[in-house]
Amino acid sequence: MLGDFSYCNPTKLYFGENALAELGPELRHYGPNVVLIYGGGSIKKNGIYDAVTDILAREGKNVAEIAGVMPNPTVEKLYEGVEIARAHRADLLLAVGGGSVCDYAKAVSVSVHCDEDPWEKYFIRFEEPDCPTLSVGCVLTMVGTGSEMNAGAVITNRAVKLKIGHVFKDEKIMPRFAILNPRFTMTLPHKQMVAGCFDIFSHICEQYFSGTDDNTSDYLSEGLMRSLIHSSRIANRDPQDYEARSNIMWTATWALNTLVSRGKSTDWMVHMIGQAIGAVTDATHGMTLSAVSLAYYRYILEAGLHKFVRFAQNVWGVSSEGKTDREIAMAGLSAMEDWMKELGLAMRGSEVGLTEENLEDVVGGTLILKGGYKVLTKEDVRSILRACL
Ligand code: NZQ
Ligand code: ZN
Repeated sequence: MLGDFSYCNPTKLYFGENALAELGPELRHYGPNVVLIYGGGSIKKNGIYDAVTDILAREGKNVAEIAGVMPNPTVEKLYEGVEIARAHRADLLLAVGGGSVCDYAKAVSVSVHCDEDPWEKYFIRFEEPDCPTLSVGCVLTMVGTGSEMNAGAVITNRAVKLKIGHVFKDEKIMPRFAILNPRFTMTLPHKQMVAGCFDIFSHICEQYFSGTDDNTSDYLSEGLMRSLIHSSRIANRDPQDYEARSNIMWTATWALNTLVSRGKSTDWMVHMIGQAIGAVTDATHGMTLSAVSLAYYRYILEAGLHKFVRFAQNVWGVSSEGKTDREIAMAGLSAMEDWMKELGLAMRGSEVGLTEENLEDVVGGTLILKGGYKVLTKEDVRSILRACL
């Protein structure tokens, strides 16, 4: 493990079927004014809204609501929520939902006391907050993003066709606490469940496919990937399997809570391309990633051959007997492809709205990062998108 780093993750997690019982005691650490943030209504149908508002009432909290946070939350919705949180003099932002709701709460947190336009400051100039921020708590209902234990917030600006994620450096932007009850995820539609599984897998790959040193993070990543492949196959056959769903939930948190990125440069180009598609098509995040991943990894295979060989052997159990390194690496990606098809993921760009007509907007909206095995040009991005159309 080469290189220097620091590590601090202050999010307190409560995990399991009785985790919500800890919400009341947690709420006592904060002032009386709570803003409850949620999405399009799933929590009203499955009873989580009632359970949470009962606890808020019992704790004597003064509650305002931001409802209707959409998947891929927009900058207009952010401006609206900032006004509500300001008017309510919020002491705590309580996000009840998936990654979109949790990300959104963090974006509101850094914007409430900010005099500048948050889109320009945080998502174009990537500045850190220089104002007080609000504490965020999370009750997670959708598994995948890791937003419950990281400082990331992704906001979409449809007018300029950009979807941008900012991972804040300051740990205080991470949720102060997160309630993880796997039962709360059982009402997810199958499509969201498998999209979440692929999002988890992609997060691990984005960190794994970088660097050449012998790094503990890579061994941890391989274990997380193997657990995820195993549990996702069980959950795909029987979505009500609690053991599988709880393993997926825990894997998602560890896949993107900063641990397995320590000592790594990290890639993130699948996410950059996937997010650029999402900015134009508003497609489900995990599906944008599945649609481009194989085309991307086959494109960069030669540049990272040693790691793709290791991935094939250690994650997919590919035998090396009688094969060249290239053949081993390709067999690993074929095994990944079989698993993706088994889950029913989007396998082509056309399934997430990518067309010849919008392809140039996606190329234009793709940020180029330099931590992976091959630094792409815009022409490379174009070729990858064409390959997966
Ligand atoms: O809005 P409601 O009605 O609640 O429905 C949601 C939404 O339609 C539904 N849902 C959530 N929990 C449910 C449920 N339906 C039934 N039962 C439940 N228990 O699921 C749909 C998707 O929810 P969403 O929160 O959008 O999904 P996800 O958790 O995948 O979050 C996606 C957002 O997170 C960002 C993505 O870009 C996207 O904007 N990401 C955040 C990251 C981070 N903070 O680190 C990293 C990720 O790579 C990702 O970019
Ligand atoms: Zn993701």
